[in-house]
Amino acid sequence: MAKKPNQTKDVGTTGHEWDGIEELNTPLPRWWLWTFYACIVWGVIYTIAYPAWPLVNGATAGFLGWSTRGDVAAEISANEAKLGPINAKLAAAELTEISADAELQGYAVSAGAAVFKTWCAQCHGSGAAGAAGYPNLLDDDWLWGGDIETIHTTITHGIRSADDEDTRISDMPAFGKDELLEKEQIEQVVNYVMSLSGTAQDAALVEEGAVVFADNCASCHGDDATGGRDLGAPNLSDAIWLFGGSYDAIKETVVNSRKGVMPNWNTRLSEAQIRAVSAYVHQLGGGE
Ligand code: HEC
Ligand code: HEC
Repeated sequence: MAKKPNQTKDVGTTGHEWDGIEELNTPLPRWWLWTFYACIVWGVIYTIAYPAWPLVNGATAGFLGWSTRGDVAAEISANEAKLGPINAKLAAAELTEISADAELQGYAVSAGAAVFKTWCAQCHGSGAAGAAGYPNLLDDDWLWGGDIETIHTTITHGIRSADDEDTRISDMPAFGKDELLEKEQIEQVVNYVMSLSGTAQDAALVEEGAVVFADNCASCHGDDATGGRDLGAPNLSDAIWLFGGSYDAIKETVVNSRKGVMPNWNTRLSEAQIRAVSAYVHQLGGGE
């Protein structure tokens, strides 16, 4: 037979009783209660020490003055202090001599890759292969030039950037929209341009187109259509296209022109960052 607990006398009951079962009023263990009080005290001190209580704008700052933002800022400035000397060295070096210094080149390329991922990939693609209107930076086909000094100038001042007086400028006329050429002439010159990269075209149109080209296009794209880097005019004979090599794409370029824009980076990036990303782009495969 089970024994009946006899604690009733020691602790009393809460007075609740159901079908003869009474609820004992056993006190909480001491250790539990003190831990509980200690937690409350700890909690109150913690919320005074650290940012905690919500206010209308923000929260109480806490007497320790700690913040996640401050933590990040401290980490960033520690990192900058660590990289200060090498950044200074990079900013002061001759551009053409960076690649000869293994340490500097290694640093520039890895820092440049990070800059590229943050600031350039959205237009040029994360692998720098470009897209329609945004040049591929991996190949040896350059609009403005692929040696490190030219790349550095392009990145520093941008292309057709409204915010920089020294930006690279050149404007291919909108031959159709501004009625500089007749419809037939446009058809002829488009056929001629297509024939240059080996796409067979109507011979009569190509012949007429060659004349239109010599009169209107050669001044920028060159007599042999291999492009003109002073004006950022692409090579039209190599079957590498910035805007596409189909009849429609070339016609669109000739009728309306394109005027691709790249921002100048001298107001957004430090000189060391611009040099790092120049070195990165230069070593991608197409650097001259
Ligand atoms: C908003 C889009 C955009 C961003 C962002 C951008 N670019 Fe460009 N970039 C262009 C366009 C468009 C051109 C081609 C312009 C033209 O038609 O001449 C270009 C051209 C270039 C060229 C010249 C290529 C040649 O063949 O001469 C280089 C080098 C270059 N970009 C590097 C960069 C780097 C490095 C960054 C990041 C710091 C960057 N770009 C960010 C749009 C962009
Ligand atoms: C004032 C200089 C200039 C003249 C004149 C000029 N172009 Fe251009 N052309 C350019 C530039 C610069 C680009 C680069 C695209 C841009 O504007 O972003 C270009 C781009 C092109 C492209 C696009 C190439 C590609 O890779 O997608 C074609 C095609 C082209 N031009 C054909 C012509 C033809 C045909 C004529 C004559 C009817 C002509 N251009 C006259 C400067 C010129």
